[in-house]
Amino acid sequence: MYSTVPLRIHELSAEELSVYRTLDPSRMPDHVAIIMDGNGRWAGMRSLKRFLGHQQGAKSVQLVTEAASRIGLPWLTLYAFSLENNLRRPRAEVNFLMRLLKSYLESNVQRMMDNNVRIRYIGRTHELPPEVQDKMQWAAETTRRNTGTTLTLALNYGGRSEIVDAFRALAADVARTGRKIEEITEEDVHRHLYTAHMPDPDLLIRTSGEMRVSNYLLWQIAYTEIFVTERYWPDFRGLHLLEAIAAYQRRERRYGGLSEADAEPVPEGEGAHATA
Ligand code: FPP
Repeated sequence: MYSTVPLRIHELSAEELSVYRTLDPSRMPDHVAIIMDGNGRWAGMRSLKRFLGHQQGAKSVQLVTEAASRIGLPWLTLYAFSLENNLRRPRAEVNFLMRLLKSYLESNVQRMMDNNVRIRYIGRTHELPPEVQDKMQWAAETTRRNTGTTLTLALNYGGRSEIVDAFRALAADVARTGRKIEEITEEDVHRHLYTAHMPDPDLLIRTSGEMRVSNYLLWQIAYTEIFVTERYWPDFRGLHLLEAIAAYQRRERRYGGLSEADAEPVPEGEGAHATA
């Protein structure tokens, strides 16, 4: 299913348009998730301080979001700040990232309105500094009625802690309703995740070449196609999002099944022979 979000293809650059025209409109992803990595290395390569890499990374966030909104992508979910970043990075860097998030929201909410983008968050956001939470709430409230791309920022997010939070909520439900444990389904777990309102990602992009999922959307990426690019996040643009979608469309998604070509009729009456 591809979106009912209005397309603004005429706003794509000539380069973006040439990739967009190669895409099959009936096989566009509904949900793209991105692990934005490489801000520090981008800065290091230029003998710049790490914070300048993050600052440049915030620009990529806006440009990629706008490209997503032009092609009518319904869901874009960006890993902006992990629980591990919060715990393991020097306080000065964490504080800088918090200030950057605040100023990013202040300066870009108008552009989100112009692009019909709605902003939301996932993660243990109640643990973020109160002034950051206020700004987040303001941005979410201001963009609430937009009907285009939903940009979800994962903030103070960890996939395992999300699952823990879901299990806690589910256990509370079971205690309240007296439901039988054996009746719990995958759908019940899904309903208690932060992402209950959205489809699972079709495509997960990771920048800067690392082959890891880094505790991102662990439950949700069970059947997601993964695309890794060597490009550092501060250099990632709408064009590269389109190229990743083109690569995604060259994949065959089987969800544990077989492709049409590989499916063989099972001979009737034949016993099943165990194979290793
Ligand atoms: C990885 O770079 C990126 C992050 C720590 C988080 C992503 C943050 C941004 C894109 C900037 C701000 C975002 C918003 C929404 C305003 P790294 O420092 O781990 O890079 P390295 O692996 O090269 O050191």
